[in-house]
Amino acid sequence: MSDSTACRICGGEVREFLDFGRQPLSDAFRAPDDTSEEFFYRLAMGACGGCTMVQLMEEVPRDRMFHEDYPYISRGSSVMRAHFTALAERFLGGELSGSDPFIVELGCNDGTMLRTIAAAGRRHLGVEPSGGVADLAAADGVRVRKDFFEASTAASILAEDGPADVIYAANTLCHIPYMDSILEGVRTLLAPGGVFVFEDPYFGDIVERTSFDQVYDEHFFFFTARSVREMASRNGLELVDVERLPVHGGEVRYTLARAGARPVAASVAALLAEEEARGLSSAATLEGFAKAVDRVRTDLPALLEQLREQGARVVGYGATAKSATVTNLCGIGPEHVEFISDTTPAKQGRLAPGSHIPVRGPEAFAADYPPYALLFAWNHAEEIMAKEQAFRDAGGKWILYVPEVRVV
Ligand code: SAM
Ligand code: TMP
Ligand code: ZN
Repeated sequence: MSDSTACRICGGEVREFLDFGRQPLSDAFRAPDDTSEEFFYRLAMGACGGCTMVQLMEEVPRDRMFHEDYPYISRGSSVMRAHFTALAERFLGGELSGSDPFIVELGCNDGTMLRTIAAAGRRHLGVEPSGGVADLAAADGVRVRKDFFEASTAASILAEDGPADVIYAANTLCHIPYMDSILEGVRTLLAPGGVFVFEDPYFGDIVERTSFDQVYDEHFFFFTARSVREMASRNGLELVDVERLPVHGGEVRYTLARAGARPVAASVAALLAEEEARGLSSAATLEGFAKAVDRVRTDLPALLEQLREQGARVVGYGATAKSATVTNLCGIGPEHVEFISDTTPAKQGRLAPGSHIPVRGPEAFAADYPPYALLFAWNHAEEIMAKEQAFRDAGGKWILYVPEVRVV
């Protein structure tokens, strides 16, 4: 165990500020009869003294996380489906409106964004290492390459398809520790006037909402405008636009271009100034975040313990990757949460990683509403609460823990 490591962006010293202890792979849902030893690693986060990038202290090998059976599918949320369709339409009307444009999506998953591009007949390629979800994309008419994107993949795509006008990644770039290879690949593949657009959870929102469960094996980097600008400029690229997004509890969509190729939008200076004014990279902010996490870490198990003593049933809602951090940090198990309701076929009938709470389909939730539902998928709260009105009508209450523990 070490409380400092080398920054994956600039090589500077990353100092640890928060330790979540031993954690399992967040998406490793286990078959109930699986007796093999579960893989654990130490989850801790730190900030670089040089470029300010917040990142994990330890890296989990990528093949352990992204493989044939990777269970997460983008189409599980109607809000996210609408979000990606709207973006695809925006691309079609803008960056992809020239002659024979080409878009490459890193981590296209089940093709939720690219299928709109494919339906419009534009040249595209999804790069997706997780075989099962890549097959779902292909079944929807999306052209997919089953591969990890990195420098060598970019060179091979360039040779086969030529340069990309848009390289896009949603909730994928922050998953990739080997950023030097990714950005080398982007420089190789991007057309001279092209854009590299990516959207990921925003560290500013994570701090503001104490959404510490955004920290898990797959989320290696926690971006800010400042750290992304630094990352871009060290790699021959420039941050030319930022856009705040309401999805997944608060994200930022960053647009990078080759240095000097595009004008820089006013939104960049505005977000940089906001981050500076609130001291987002300061030691005091990081310490304050760690303290706020400690409060939830105390309050949530205390509430669940109290409900258990009262004999009140609690069911979890949404077997998110995020929930692995919460359950394993707070010592939440099947004695507190009877099961977790989730719509994802690949998670149902399995046990949640580490906590071994069973995962069941939403019909199990509806068959016998509990008095309390612990909303692990709090980032989809609006969508879920709207569709679960019958649970409320039956007297059910939601337990939330972001930004603090409360029952509503
Ligand atoms: N873009 C989708 C979305 O936002 O819903 C999926 C996001 S999912 C959380 C992350 C995806 O990135 C996974 O499907 C994973 O297989 C993929 N991935 C991980 N490393 C990658 C890499 N080096 N190149 C391309 N995709 C990668
Ligand atoms: P995410 O927060 O990483 O997008 O994961 C959300 C999880 O919650 C995913 O496993 C699908 C599940 N889910 C439901 O079970 N019901 C729902 O209505 C929604 C939106 C998600
Ligand atoms: Zn750094």
